[in-house]
Amino acid sequence: MIIAPSLLAADFGRLGSEIQRADRAGADWIHVDIMDGHFVPNISFGPGVVETARRFTRLPLDVHLMCSRPATLLEPFVRAGASLITVHVELGNGVGDLLWKIRALGRKVGLAVNPPTPIANALPLLKQIDLLLIMTVNPGFGGQSFIEETIPKVQQADAWRRERGLPFRIEVDGGINLSTAAECARAGADTFVSGTALFGQSNLKAAIRKMREAAMRHAPAPRGGART
Ligand code: DX5
Ligand code: ZN
Repeated sequence: MIIAPSLLAADFGRLGSEIQRADRAGADWIHVDIMDGHFVPNISFGPGVVETARRFTRLPLDVHLMCSRPATLLEPFVRAGASLITVHVELGNGVGDLLWKIRALGRKVGLAVNPPTPIANALPLLKQIDLLLIMTVNPGFGGQSFIEETIPKVQQADAWRRERGLPFRIEVDGGINLSTAAECARAGADTFVSGTALFGQSNLKAAIRKMREAAMRHAPAPRGGART
């Protein structure tokens, strides 16, 4: 199980120490939301913030691009230190090329699916990816409520993964707390992004440990190979 605190919920006034707090608290990855004010109605970070994050931790940086035109942004985020880059399936026809380009730049490849988008849109691309990000809120803002209707998409993705013997991780993002993490784990998720429910805690170490335990307790029994 991977727990990835989302920097969007950190105290921006002391970003460096917030990243160190997450690192020392046992986070597996740091999730960094990049919003362009067009693909989503909000603006967040650019490559400079990823570069700063890189100076404060050696943990993998999980960069989630909520951007309408990510093609020209891939190289700057790679140079800044992104470990994994996720683009959205809603971008349409060019997505396969973007996935290929991320791979060619030597980074792990992620594909995200918004709540209203059918999970079947991701099906032709599953062989190209390391991570399928199933959005469990409409992207753009932290602190929203989990959308229950996204659970069958997690189940479907897990079924495809088992049937086809594919190795991609299933990540959930938005409204993830102890109970929704457990619910998603039961459906097959193994990677949990959480902003408000983690950074909002004064004891971040305990919060991360509890979320990991909840996810592990509810995970389906592994078939055809253990997943960590
Ligand atoms: C939402 C972002 C999320 C966000 C999650 O658009 O993709 O990563 O930070 O925040 P919480 O956990 O507060 O819902
Ligand atoms: Zn995100």
